[in-house]
Amino acid sequence: MLVLGISGSLRRDSHNTRLLRAAAEIIKARGVEFEVFDGLKAIPPYDEDDDVGKGPGAVARLREAIAGADALLFATPEYNSSVPGVLKNAIDWASRPAGAGALRNKPVIVIGASTGMFGAVWAQAELRKVLAATGARVAEAELAVGHAHEHLDPLGHPVEPAQREALADAVGVLLSELDDVAALAV
Ligand SMILES: Cc1cc2nc3c(=O)[nH]c(=O)nc-3n(C[C@H](O)[C@H](O)[C@H](O)COP(=O)(O)O)c2cc1C
Repeated sequence: MLVLGISGSLRRDSHNTRLLRAAAEIIKARGVEFEVFDGLKAIPPYDEDDDVGKGPGAVARLREAIAGADALLFATPEYNSSVPGVLKNAIDWASRPAGAGALRNKPVIVIGASTGMFGAVWAQAELRKVLAATGARVAEAELAVGHAHEHLDPLGHPVEPAQREALADAVGVLLSELDDVAALAV
C-alpha cells in the first residue's frame, strides 16, 4: 500500500511539505509506504492542445504517480484565500481524460498550514471541492495549522497537542480508507 503526498507549495522550506513529512512518520509506523511527489514545478500550464496521449513528460509522471498510489494526502497553503495556482493546474491535468482521470475514485484527504490565523481553511475547502469534481473520494478529515511558523516544529510536527492529535486522526481516516481498498481487493 502506498500513500502519495502532494504539497501545494514549491518553497524549499515549506511548512506544508514539512507537515507532510510529519504525516509520513505516522503512515510509515502503520507499515504503509509514503512518497512525496516532487514534480509539481515541472508541470506546464494546462493546455488542451497539449493534452494528447499521456500528455507532456512531467504530466505523465504526475498521472503515473497518482495512478500508482492507493491514496493521496494533500497539504496546501492558501494563496489569496484560495488554492495555489500550481496545485490547481496539476489537478486540472490529473483530472483528464474526463471521467477516466487518475484521480477518479482515489481516496484523498486534505490538510493545510498557513502563516495566517486560519490555517488555509478556505484553500482546503476549495481543494476538497475541486477534488470531488474530479471524482476523487474525498474523506472527512481536517487539520488547519494557523501561524505555522510558530505552530509547527522544524520537522513539521504540530506543537499543540490538540493539533498533533488532529494530524493523527486525519491520517487515521486516510488509512481506514486504505483498509477499505484492501478489503475490496481480497
Ligand atoms: C501569493 C501569496 C498569497 C497568500 N495568501 C494568503 C492567504 O490568503 N491566507 C493565508 O493565511 N496566508 C496567505 N499567504 C501566506 C502563506 O500562508 C505563507 O506564505 C505560507 O508559509 C505558505 O505555505 P508554505 O510554507 O507551505 O510555502 C500567502 C502567501 C503568498 C505567497
